[in-house]
Amino acid sequence: MRADVTLPFAPAAERNKQAILEVLIDRLSRQGLVLEIGSGTGQHVVHFARAFSGIQWQPSERRQNLPGLNAQVAAANLQNILLPIELDVNFPHWPIKQFTAVVAANVAHIMALSEVQLMLQRVAEGLLCGGQFFLYGPFHRNGQPTSHGNADFDVMLRSADNPDGHHQGIRDDREIFAAAADAGLIVSEDIDMPANNRILVLMKP
Ligand SMILES: C[S@@+](CC[C@H](N)C(=O)[O-])C[C@H]1O[C@@H](n2cnc3c(N)ncnc32)[C@H](O)[C@@H]1O
Repeated sequence: MRADVTLPFAPAAERNKQAILEVLIDRLSRQGLVLEIGSGTGQHVVHFARAFSGIQWQPSERRQNLPGLNAQVAAANLQNILLPIELDVNFPHWPIKQFTAVVAANVAHIMALSEVQLMLQRVAEGLLCGGQFFLYGPFHRNGQPTSHGNADFDVMLRSADNPDGHHQGIRDDREIFAAAADAGLIVSEDIDMPANNRILVLMKP
């Protein structure tokens, strides 16, 4: 993440935000409350909120990233983005209880697997029936990296040089699917995205 003069900026988010939006456009209903987990710089939520004016967007982040996210949301000045909330998936009580859909980009390889599992549980509890969780990022397919780039990225994430390497790593889709099933979510779609990423769409029946 690079800070420019005032607002945080992530080049990857700038590159992938339109492709993710196009997936959402075909699948999200035009109203409701959508929670974003791990909003990061806020570039995604601002982009999505501009396209979906009837949806209330709820960005969220861990405490250390809230100042930048707050600044991004304030600068966008959109009526349909709620004030960012502090949300770490480990919180025993989430500050938001119900939502019509959830979006999270590039969080599963940053969280520990146990946190990903917890996130799926909590999302399943809060989603309205028929609601979907759009989980974007790199995932191994059936135990295998989907590209050399993702294989290298996984090694880097898990390496001893990474201070968080003891818990980070690209998740295998089988781990996600198993955790989703345990949480009562079904895999409604598995969408290939540019740069060897995917969107796993998990639905609460
Ligand atoms: C690689 S960044 C992605 C940010 C943004 N979604 C994007 O795509 O640009 C990963 C994000 O996951 C968040 N994150 C990591 N662990 C988390 C946790 N336990 N609970 C909530 N968010 C977490 C981080 O704070 C960080 O903003």
